[in-house]
Amino acid sequence: MILITGAAGYIGSQCALNFSINKYDDIVIFDNLSTGHIETVKKLQEINPKIQFIKGDLKNKEEISNVFNQYKIDAVIHFAALSQVGESVINPSLYYSNNVIGTINLLNSMVENNVLKIVFSSTAATYGEPEYIPIDENHPQNPINPYGNTKLIIEKVMDDFDKAYNLKSVRLRYFNVIGADEQTRVGEWHNPETHLVPNILKSVFKNDVKFKIFGDDYDTKDGTCIRDYVDVIDLCDAHLLALEYLKKYNKTDVFNLGTQEGQSVKEIFNISQDVTNQKIEYEIVEKRLGDPKILLANSLKARSVLNWQPKRTTFDSIKNAFEWEKSLNDKLKASN
Ligand SMILES: NC(=O)c1ccc[n+]([C@@H]2O[C@H](COP(=O)([O-])OP(=O)(O)OC[C@H]3O[C@@H](n4cnc5c(N)ncnc54)[C@H](O)[C@@H]3O)[C@@H](O)[C@H]2O)c1
Repeated sequence: MILITGAAGYIGSQCALNFSINKYDDIVIFDNLSTGHIETVKKLQEINPKIQFIKGDLKNKEEISNVFNQYKIDAVIHFAALSQVGESVINPSLYYSNNVIGTINLLNSMVENNVLKIVFSSTAATYGEPEYIPIDENHPQNPINPYGNTKLIIEKVMDDFDKAYNLKSVRLRYFNVIGADEQTRVGEWHNPETHLVPNILKSVFKNDVKFKIFGDDYDTKDGTCIRDYVDVIDLCDAHLLALEYLKKYNKTDVFNLGTQEGQSVKEIFNISQDVTNQKIEYEIVEKRLGDPKILLANSLKARSVLNWQPKRTTFDSIKNAFEWEKSLNDKLKASN
């Protein structure tokens, strides 16, 4: 059985769906529903009735330890975390206790129960301000906010747990994740939403909300920031491959997940207008502190070692995200 933490959230739910469709349908989800949704878990259980759900908090040692007593876990896919950069700056204590202490509780339970394989959601935020582009896995890691720090600390804890207890981890450092399930069964549902694509799409449904571009005088082709957008379904394929890699080689490793193609905020905005077939209102506002002008992944290692091949175009991803956003909007309207 596979334990997936945080699968009531955006990326974890997509992975639980992908794993269900592929050969790992024996799944237990552990989530405290702090940013995830019970409706998402119910939808996953409708699709795969074998999915078990435990509502619990990683900060509580006993709650996570009980999962290992109750189920025979073979490996863990660990998404559960708080991940809003701005919130982490205002409330670092919350982030260190949730992400770092929560993960240590999880790792301790794993070691106690001799479960020694984990795939971990790390992030490009561990690199901080890029020293060169594209960023490969050997790029120095100097996070510039508490959120990035928590993920880097966890990576180091995992290294030490490997040396001491033989716990093997594959750390996947995601760049900017976009898109949704092609049948709108799951998708991005954050509140507040801090990510670019859902915010552009949300402004289509809310006449009073104007989409904001943070700065248009960066030294880039059109003055807006450039990021590396990777589709969530492609990203989940990489998790399946990472688990296979752990099973085959029993080796700790790290991989960037990005497409290696940078797109500016304005380019994403224009694709969103094409997808929605609407003229979307926007305004230019102040730059945000700590936003590097360009972040781009070198993902050759994931392609060559894991044999990962991102397949979806940005247009496909935004189209799926728009269909999901429409269905979410309808669902929320109906429940009000
Ligand atoms: N979305 C991105 O673009 C992106 C980029 C890089 C890395 N990541 C990482 O990917 C992972 C998933 O991100 P997401 O966008 O799906 O986030 P999300 O907020 O949608 O999902 C996180 C899930 O974890 C659960 N959770 C949080 N703390 C918990 C705890 N203490 N105990 C139990 N459950 C807990 C939440 O309830 C939620 O369901 C996170 O670790 C995040 O840091 C995301």
